[in-house]
Amino acid sequence: MRPRENYTPFITAGLSLTLAILATFQVYIWREPTRIQAVEVADRLAAETAGRNLYADNCAACHGENGEGKTGPALNSQQLLKATADEMLFNLIRTGVPGTTMPAWGQSFGGPFTDEQVRQSVAFIRAWEPTAPELTEEVAAPDPGHGAMIFANTCRICHGENGQGTDRAPALNDPVRLKEFEDAWYRSTIAHGRPAKGMPTWGTVLSPAQINDLVALLAAWREGQTVTPIIPFTRHLSNALFAVRQFDQLDAVFYLSAALTQANSQQAEEIQVALDLIKGNHLAEAEARLVGLLPPEEMGKELFATNCAPCHGADGTGGLGKTLHNSRFIQSKGDDELIAFLLAGRRGTAMDGFEDILTPEELSYIIGLMRTWQK
Ligand code: HEC
Ligand code: HEC
Ligand code: HEC
Repeated sequence: MRPRENYTPFITAGLSLTLAILATFQVYIWREPTRIQAVEVADRLAAETAGRNLYADNCAACHGENGEGKTGPALNSQQLLKATADEMLFNLIRTGVPGTTMPAWGQSFGGPFTDEQVRQSVAFIRAWEPTAPELTEEVAAPDPGHGAMIFANTCRICHGENGQGTDRAPALNDPVRLKEFEDAWYRSTIAHGRPAKGMPTWGTVLSPAQINDLVALLAAWREGQTVTPIIPFTRHLSNALFAVRQFDQLDAVFYLSAALTQANSQQAEEIQVALDLIKGNHLAEAEARLVGLLPPEEMGKELFATNCAPCHGADGTGGLGKTLHNSRFIQSKGDDELIAFLLAGRRGTAMDGFEDILTPEELSYIIGLMRTWQK
């Protein structure tokens, strides 16, 4: 008879091994979330650090060193950060805000940043949230006049002058239709769009503040009001000056009357004199008055300060953008070529075109200023 084989030691050893493996595995399973968390934290910190450098080099000039806001709005703000998800920030930074000085940063939109760099910028801005101040007073109330300006640049092409509709898109100014829906519905319709039906998604292109301005415009139309776009005082004046030089009295009177509504008392007196001169057909004298109100150097300086200085420095000696003093590029180009360059911008860099922002007339003042910086 074969002796009965004794398997017990093997079974015991096998069982212990299994238990040991299970135990290890369980410890692993138990520790995995902590490990993933640790990796995530490390990733986030790395992204924040990279984002901090990108921010200092590219954004601080307009949004302030600590996001407190300068020519661009404050980003270090509870209101903004609470209301704006990462995805929205990502899109805003990638596409920029058309019609404002906020450039497109994403490479797919002609800017210098990879998607990864945009994500890093978002991580850096997001890290402010826990300590961000409440900036209630500084949040501008929605403004139908701003809305009308955005509408003219962005929506008019499909929805028509004053929202009266075209063959491309329905009317938006019908008070009966407007009363069917509340502001919140319009805010969401504009933000999401109806891409399948030809209404673009504006939430990735316009800022929340701009969409609120558009909703305020629709609210004014709901009440049957007409809203005129806010146009800068200096633009009315430069348009009037242009009209006077073209001997177009009607236009000149129109633009000066518009400028009058924004003028201080001293400017108003001068404009009144110019208006009388134009009506009396003394165009040369009227032109001299207007030039007095709008000396080209002053005009150039003012336009440069708001539109170019954030990147090229207050005196044009450079910052994020190159110095514009003794520039071979500027010296080698005629005024018309420079205007074309400034309207179009330079793809793949932070130098966005000013197509929707400045008129050729306004650019020519800036070019006049830049010419004084050449040897
Ligand atoms: C030349 C000036 C300028 C530069 C440089 C600039 N911005 Fe802006 N940015 C603006 C302006 C102006 C706005 C407001 C646009 C508007 O009216 O909606 C803005 C808006 C924004 C907003 C939306 C804020 C809001 O309240 O809706 C974000 C986010 C933002 N910028 C991030 C950035 C980041 C990140 C960078 C750098 C990579 C940057 N900006 C560089 C001018 C600038
Ligand atoms: C490329 C053309 C186009 C542009 C630009 C455009 N829209 Fe539209 N929009 C449409 C079309 C088409 C519809 C109708 C969609 C449908 O049939 O549901 C529409 C519908 C709408 C509606 C819903 C109207 C209703 O009563 O149902 C609103 C609100 C609106 N657009 C606002 C805007 C605003 C604000 C802008 C500018 C930021 C804008 N649209 C720019 C094409 C456009
Ligand atoms: C958001 C930042 C920004 C703003 C705002 C901006 N620029 Fe620039 N600009 C740049 C950058 C960056 C370059 C360099 C692009 C490159 O790398 O080729 C540049 C290049 C230029 C150049 C070409 C210089 C050369 O030697 O190639 C001119 C001219 C210029 N800018 C003028 C202007 C004027 C005028 C304005 C205002 C109307 C303006 N820029 C606003 C960032 C900006």
